[in-house]
Amino acid sequence: MSRVALITGAAAGIGAACARRLARDGIAIGVLDLDAARCAETVAQVVAEGGSAIALGADISDPIQVADAVAKLRVDLGPVGIVVNNAAITGFAPFLETTLEDWEQIHKVNLTGTFIVTQQVLPDMLAAGWGRIINIASSAAQTGARFMAAYASSKGGMIALTRTLAVEFGPSGITANVIPPRFITGTIMSEKSFADSQQLGTREATAATGPICREGRPSDIAGAVAWLASEEAGYVTGQVIGVNGGRII
Ligand SMILES: NC(=O)c1ccc[n+]([C@@H]2O[C@H](COP(=O)([O-])OP(=O)(O)OC[C@H]3O[C@@H](n4cnc5c(N)ncnc54)[C@H](O)[C@@H]3O)[C@@H](O)[C@H]2O)c1
Repeated sequence: MSRVALITGAAAGIGAACARRLARDGIAIGVLDLDAARCAETVAQVVAEGGSAIALGADISDPIQVADAVAKLRVDLGPVGIVVNNAAITGFAPFLETTLEDWEQIHKVNLTGTFIVTQQVLPDMLAAGWGRIINIASSAAQTGARFMAAYASSKGGMIALTRTLAVEFGPSGITANVIPPRFITGTIMSEKSFADSQQLGTREATAATGPICREGRPSDIAGAVAWLASEEAGYVTGQVIGVNGGRII
């Protein structure tokens, strides 16, 4: 059966890798991102590889923009069966210097944005009696992360939200799972984090901290997302799936 996935933050990094990977499984992709120009680049890559995708420029924290994007996706490609809530922002500040404005903005995008997008696509999944909600959190929510109170808190909220969605919508044929990555190299966020934070150390030192001594790649996350989106993962819900080179065991 042909499926449609909405992937947020898919103009770059992990989201773009998920778009390309899911398209290889025959899934049509709604590439949603704030950065409309780069959405078009992801769409061009998917199409060049034989897939089907459309660009949806939207801010996940704006319910009207999300509703418009989901409506366009439905018309152009069909009802949404899979959502990958991947778009996020981060920031580094000692807790006592974290401003209320930064705290609220990070939660508004990462947690409230996930709420808004999921609420908009769930009716399609309920109508089909089938759905996959896949949320991208962060290992910062599992371990804590110095100077990342707002980000880690927003990602912890995503884990709790995922479990709740799993409980509420499992009887309707919808699974909800969460992947909390740790150190995925080569994305805008990870490169900026290394530049902005004195806490992370060098990339080489960070890569060497796990049993699997290499940097994580966007394709590592995309592979797990593809499995969670598949029929084979239909008995998996409410789970935190660590794709972290064994850094958290
Ligand atoms: N890269 C890592 O090491 C790492 C580690 C842990 C968790 N993560 C998580 O993985 C996900 C992807 O990270 P990445 O490294 O690919 O990041 P990235 O910054 O490279 O990509 C994120 C994308 O989200 C988009 N975005 C930001 N705010 C948005 C909004 N309001 N509406 C729509 N789109 C918006 C950006 O434009 C960007 O294209 C994020 O949820 C991040 O928290 C990444």
